[in-house]
This record gives sequence, C-alpha cells and structure tokens, in this order.
Amino acid sequence: LRTRKPILAIDGPAGAGKSTVARRVAEQLNLFYLDTGAMYRALTWLVLQSGIAVDDEPAIAELVSQSHIEFKDYESDAQRSKRIFINDRDVTEEIRDVDVTANVSAISAHAIVRKVLVKQQQRYGSSGGIVIEGRDIGTCVFPDAEVKIFLTASVQERARRRQQDLKNQGKGEISLDELEQSIFERDRKDSTRAISPLRKADDAIEIQTDHLSVDEVVGAIVRLYLEKLDP
Ligand code: DC
Repeated sequence: LRTRKPILAIDGPAGAGKSTVARRVAEQLNLFYLDTGAMYRALTWLVLQSGIAVDDEPAIAELVSQSHIEFKDYESDAQRSKRIFINDRDVTEEIRDVDVTANVSAISAHAIVRKVLVKQQQRYGSSGGIVIEGRDIGTCVFPDAEVKIFLTASVQERARRRQQDLKNQGKGEISLDELEQSIFERDRKDSTRAISPLRKADDAIEIQTDHLSVDEVVGAIVRLYLEKLDP
C-alpha cells in the first residue's frame, strides 16, 4: 500500500533550467513546489547581512540555529508566486543578488547548514505530492523519490540562457565569457564539496536540454510522473 504520493526530485547544475521546469511541472500536476536552492540562498543572505565570514563555522552554526525560513504564497492579479522569508523578512529578490550567488556554494558546503536545511526539506516532502529541486535531492534528501530527474545543459548553453534572462530583466549585458566562468566555478564547487556533492543518482533519468524547449522538457517529466502514478 502506498502511504504517500510520489515525490519528483529534480537535480542538476546551476542554470540548467531546473526552477523554470520544476515550477511548470508542479503547476501542471497540481503538486507542491520546493526550491531548495532558495533556502541555501536565504541563509547566505543572512550570513552576509550579519557580517559573518563565510568560513566561520561556529558563528554560522549559531546563526542557523536561530534562523527560521518560510515560504508563503503570494497572490496578485497578474500572478501567483511563492515568496521566501528568513526570520520574517521577505528576501525573494535579494537572494538573487550577485553577492549571494558568489557565496552560496561556500555556505552550503558547511555540514551544519546542510543538516538543518535537509531536515526541513524532508519535513516539507514527507507526505509526497511534491516537486523538489536542488543538487542532492535524489542522492540525499529523498533517495527513495519515485521519480528522479537529472537536468543538464552544456556550460555554453547555460551561459547563453543566463545572458538572455539578464537582458530580459533589463539587467544589462554581461559577456558570455564571464558568465561561463562563473557557472563553471559554481559547478566545480558544488560537485567537489565533501558532503553530498552535486551528483546524478544512479537511478535518475538524465535529460540533456541543449536542444530542447522548456515545453518539451516539462512534457517529458510530466509523462514520467503520470506513469509512476498509474503504471
Ligand atoms: O539552484 P540554485 O542556483 O538557486 O542553488 C544555489 C546554491 O545552493 C548552489 O550553488 C548550491 C546550493 N544548493 C545545494 O547545495 N543543495 C541543494 N539541494 C540546492 C542548492
């Protein structure tokens, strides 16, 4: 007898389109959506805000023990979105800042940070029916997830998409070289850290998205989930 609804885990490197895809899949299947990267980013924002050095593990441990991360639904005429709060402050926009992006790999490598956030993620997903996105969901947070996807794209393609996103948001033009460099660096740090590094789970299905549209990727994942529900 199944005791929970299936869990859909989506992992992969920075900029492979996980968030866009995971959000759309959750909408289509009417599932919860959890962006675990946003949690590591919120905590990174708080560390920087508090003036704590990114390698000061005892101070970070103290901060983590006193911090409280929450997602809240936000409804406006135009859209429905999720906002993230840390210690009751809305940091939805701030967590995308370059400073946060540059430091999040270092913060998320601390054992204590992972211990606390992973526990919270497992609580969110305990009754299933969730799309949960990150780096270590299929390997560590929910190794028994019913559907595991590993989403990838070449560094060049990810840099190109990132450049387009920034342009669309009116954030100016950053060179492809610079974007490739920062994506490469984050991949390197995320996949070589000691604790639960970015890695494809053995039973994950890899989708290489260089030549696929968002609709195609979403459609493929939706089909995989539905097959699990009703084989
Ligand atoms: O998906 P993202 O770019 O928002 O993630 C930001 C960082 O958080 C990523 O570089 C590594 C870390 N992260 C992690 O260590 N484990 C996760 N499950 C999700 C993100």
